[in-house]
Amino acid sequence: MEALKGLILSGGAGTRLRPLTHTSAKQLIPVANRPVLFYGIDAMVEAGITEIGIVIAPETGDEIREAVGDGSAFGASVTWIVQDRPAGLAHAVLTARDFIGSSPFVTYLGDNLLKNGISGLVDSFREGESDAMVLLTPVPDPSSYGVAEVEEDRIVNLIEKPEDPPSDLALVGVYMFTPSIFEMAEGLEPSARGELEITEAIQALIDRDMTVDYEIVEGWWKDTGMLDDILEANRLVLEEVEAELSGTVENSAVEGSVVLAEGAVIRDSTVTGPAVIGAGSLIENSRIGPNTALGEDVVVRGSSIENSIVLAGSRIEEVAATIEASLLGRNVRVGRRQGSSEAIHLMVGDNSAIEVT
Ligand code: DAU
Repeated sequence: MEALKGLILSGGAGTRLRPLTHTSAKQLIPVANRPVLFYGIDAMVEAGITEIGIVIAPETGDEIREAVGDGSAFGASVTWIVQDRPAGLAHAVLTARDFIGSSPFVTYLGDNLLKNGISGLVDSFREGESDAMVLLTPVPDPSSYGVAEVEEDRIVNLIEKPEDPPSDLALVGVYMFTPSIFEMAEGLEPSARGELEITEAIQALIDRDMTVDYEIVEGWWKDTGMLDDILEANRLVLEEVEAELSGTVENSAVEGSVVLAEGAVIRDSTVTGPAVIGAGSLIENSRIGPNTALGEDVVVRGSSIENSIVLAGSRIEEVAATIEASLLGRNVRVGRRQGSSEAIHLMVGDNSAIEVT
C-alpha cells in the first residue's frame, strides 16, 4: 500500500463552546495543560504517519499554526489547508484533495481524544483491502453522533445524528479512507444542518458495494466539543500523569499525582492529585484538586477549585464557594469585591454561563 497520509480537521466554528471559542480555537483548549489537538498529532506519529495536513478555518487558523509550528516538534511535517467556511466534514476532506493526491489516508477530528491512539486501526487498514474503515463505540446518547447499523462484521447503514437511532454505536472521529471517498463527497447535497456530511459520503461507498469495515474502540474515547466532555477528558488524561514536583512547595500538603511545573509555588495549601499546575503559577491558602489543571501563570489565593480547567494568566482570589466543574479562559479574574460580603461583582464577556447560589 502507498504510504498513508494524515488529515486532521481543525476548522469549524466551535459554537457549542462559546464564549471561549470567540477568541480561541476549540482544538487548542488544553486537556491536562496540552491543547487537545496535540494528542491527535501524537496519535498519528505513533501510528507511523508523519506527513500530516491540518485543515483550519480562516478565523482561528493562525493561532493553530502558531501553536503547532511546522510539526517538527512532534516528529511530523505539517501542511496547512484553509477551508474557507465550515461547510461540513466532507467539504473539509474535499478541500484537502490536492494534498492527499492518490494516497490512502486517515482523517482525524481535531477535537477527538482516544486513550489508545489509532495505531491498531491504522495497522488493520494497512493489512486489509477495505475502501474505508471506521471506528465505532457504544454510547448512551447516540442521537448526538453519526450512528452505525451493523450486521456481523459489516456496516449496513450509517446515519448522522438520528432522532431515532437504529443502534447505540457511534462513529468515532477517526476514518481510514482511500481516494474513492472524494468522488462520494462530491456527489453530496447539504444535510438538514447545511453541511456536507462525511457520514453520508461513507454511506455512498456502502451503497456502491465498496467495503467499509469497522473496529470497536478499545479504551476510552472523548469528543471534546462540549464543556462536560472536556472536563471528563481532562480527568481521564490526568489519571495517567505521573507526579513531578519541579516547583516549590512550602508548608503545604500535596497528595496523589501532582505535576508542579518549574517556577510554580504552592504555599499554605492542600493540593490533591491528579492535578497539573503550570509554570509560574502561585497557589496560596487554597485547596486545589482533584482532577484539576491550572495553566501557566495562574494565581489562586484563598479559594478552592476542583474538577476544573483554568487557562493561563487567570486569577482567582478569596472566593468563598468551591469552584467546581468549571472551565475558565485566559486572563480571567474571579474575586470578591472589597468591603462587601454579600454582593458578587462580575465583568463577563458575551454568551458566558455563570451559576451562583
Ligand atoms: O466526534 C464524532 C462525531 O464527529 C461523529 O460521530 C459525527 O458523525 C461527525 O459528524 C462529527 O460530529 P460533530 O457534530 O461533533 O462534528 P463537529 O462539527 O464538532 O466537527 C468535528 C471537527 O471537525 C472539529 O474539530 C471541527 C472540524 N471541522 C468541522 C466542520 C463542520 C472542520 O474542520 N470543518 C468543518 O466544516
